[in-house]
Amino acid sequence: MERLTVSGVSYSYRTKYQTVRAVSDATCAFEAGRVYAITGESGSGKSTLLSLLAGLDLPDEGVIAVDGDDLRGRNRDAYRRSEASVVYQAFHLLPLLTVLENVTLPMELNGVPKAERRRRAAALLEKVGLPEETHGKFPKMLSGGQQQRVAIARSLAAGGKLILADEPTGNLDTENGQNVVNILLELAHREGYLVILVTHNPDVAAMADARLRMTDGILSEEGAP
Ligand SMILES: Nc1ncnc2c1ncn2[C@@H]1O[C@H](COP(=O)(O)OP(=O)(O)OP(=O)(O)O)[C@@H](O)[C@H]1O
Ligand SMILES: [Mg+2]
Repeated sequence: MERLTVSGVSYSYRTKYQTVRAVSDATCAFEAGRVYAITGESGSGKSTLLSLLAGLDLPDEGVIAVDGDDLRGRNRDAYRRSEASVVYQAFHLLPLLTVLENVTLPMELNGVPKAERRRRAAALLEKVGLPEETHGKFPKMLSGGQQQRVAIARSLAAGGKLILADEPTGNLDTENGQNVVNILLELAHREGYLVILVTHNPDVAAMADARLRMTDGILSEEGAP
């Protein structure tokens, strides 16, 4: 079954002076075990779609369903805490927490006992290629690529096998960007994660299993699935 489905979804931002239709009648389906890349011009609605998938907001029209359940009927705080985690271009790590603590934090919010949090966080950091000697460091002591891997480990800590990444390679050089995409591909292909990433970079999009394009709020599929 499809992990995530989007059916006729529209979303507009309303300000005092204007209404901007950021996502217009989007329909698509995402399967577990694959990496999807969403490309498109600046302002075409990519981040808006991602935040709808993350449950940060509800669509004006249409349905987003996760494992067949309409997000509208679910506790979206719980969904965000334990299933859908977002990885951002700017990493958004907490500077006063160590690498390990950044990864244990989501588990703390989910009520995982301390010893288990630390054990699981260490394993997740190893999984994204960060050896033990980095775990006690503060984020600013790491390279950009390493920081993004911490952010990915933190998103894995949510436990839901759904990763939504907005320009995860945007602050990285080519090599570090490719490493990060390779980690996401491995998580999808080996462990069944669904990864949806937004990117401006055609090389990154080319590495994904499938490509979607946003044009003025309209979503279309590129190439064969
Ligand atoms: N908080 C907001 N209030 C009002 N309009 C917004 C808001 N956020 C985004 N928009 C508008 O919605 C449209 C889609 O924006 P969105 O951020 O989803 O685009 P994007 O494809 O992610 O762009 P970029 O590639 O620059 O990140 C744009 O016209 C933008 O100006
Ligand atoms: Mg954006």
